[in-house]
Amino acid sequence: MATRGPDKPPMDNRIWRIARRPVGTDFAAALELAEEDFAPLADGQIRIRNTHLSMDAGTRMWLTDREDGYQPPLPVGGPMTGLVLGEVIESRAEGFATGDLVRAFGQWADITTVDAAMSGAILLDPTVADRRAWFGPLGMNGWTAVWGVEQTGAARPGERVLVSAAAGATGILAVQIARLLGCEAWGVAGGAAKCAYLTGELGIAGAVDYKSGALAEQLDVAGGFDVYFDNVGGPLLDQVLTRMNHYGRIAVCGLLADYTSGTRTAPREFDQVLMRRLRIEGFFSPDFMHEGPALTRRLREWTERGALVMPYDVTTGLENTLTAYAKLFTGANIGKVIVELTP
Ligand SMILES: NC(=O)c1ccc[n+]([C@@H]2O[C@H](COP(=O)([O-])OP(=O)(O)OC[C@H]3O[C@@H](n4cnc5c(N)ncnc54)[C@H](OP(=O)(O)O)[C@@H]3O)[C@@H](O)[C@H]2O)c1
Repeated sequence: MATRGPDKPPMDNRIWRIARRPVGTDFAAALELAEEDFAPLADGQIRIRNTHLSMDAGTRMWLTDREDGYQPPLPVGGPMTGLVLGEVIESRAEGFATGDLVRAFGQWADITTVDAAMSGAILLDPTVADRRAWFGPLGMNGWTAVWGVEQTGAARPGERVLVSAAAGATGILAVQIARLLGCEAWGVAGGAAKCAYLTGELGIAGAVDYKSGALAEQLDVAGGFDVYFDNVGGPLLDQVLTRMNHYGRIAVCGLLADYTSGTRTAPREFDQVLMRRLRIEGFFSPDFMHEGPALTRRLREWTERGALVMPYDVTTGLENTLTAYAKLFTGANIGKVIVELTP
């Protein structure tokens, strides 16, 4: 296969490497920004000049040494990996040419080098006005939100749907999608400002501030829930289990409460699964990757007519990536956390 791409990559590349496993949210002690040279591309590989990095809370699990997760841990000494967006600058992969806009699982770096097939690289429509949408509503967060509400949560029109981490990237989409599907959408988020955003800006039915000290009382105001789209696990799950309607469904999307604490969610109120005849089911976006194009079409239609919005929390500069990443675990963000790289 011929090498394509007249652009010569620079001699060195900045790349975040995992020096050791992080403890809590001390990412600066764990990840180091290194410089390295490029090796020639192998067959099937592409080189992408990253314009944006997606910060995703689930990647925190890849930084632990647990072997029983949904994917093996990233090795210490290796590069930090996540979703990246940018233009192809060199290609030895069929179907990818210099200048193509792509999204892939690649390195947190100025320039990513990946096997196109193994990294799930896909060509993106460059006519989408804001390319960041390929990380938000038109990306993994969007697919996850629609799948969790509609398929795993099996939400029906008129039902009451509660979403945790509702002001974050996945949650913000899940509450809006629940409403688009005719449900009454409620969110749980940390702090009055986030709750005001959810009810004021987005106009969902209600928001519960889990940091207010009055979580139980606020949940009681809402009444029972038919679907719980859970991004968090932990003690919040117990509070919700006792407020589910009979035959309710809990769609387990993520377990944020466990990611940095190292604890494991073990609901004390598990008996409510029997008492209320609940269904609890986890779901994981790579399992429905083949549905991506169809999901993207629906998400794009909602986005283009303004029915689905996403605020972006943007940090500029590869060197500032860890500041952006920490926001996911301290709750400093509303919407999608992105690092924009300077050329
Ligand atoms: N299953 C899948 O395929 C899939 C795919 C994508 C994402 N996910 C999951 O979706 C969830 C959200 O991920 P994201 O990347 O979209 O991040 P995000 O929601 O943009 O950011 C994380 C948010 O979670 C909240 N949070 C953090 N620690 C918390 C805790 N201990 N208790 C309660 N809330 C906490 C924070 O907001 P507050 O201020 O409200 O605390 C923070 O803003 C994660 O659990 C992730 O694993 C799953």
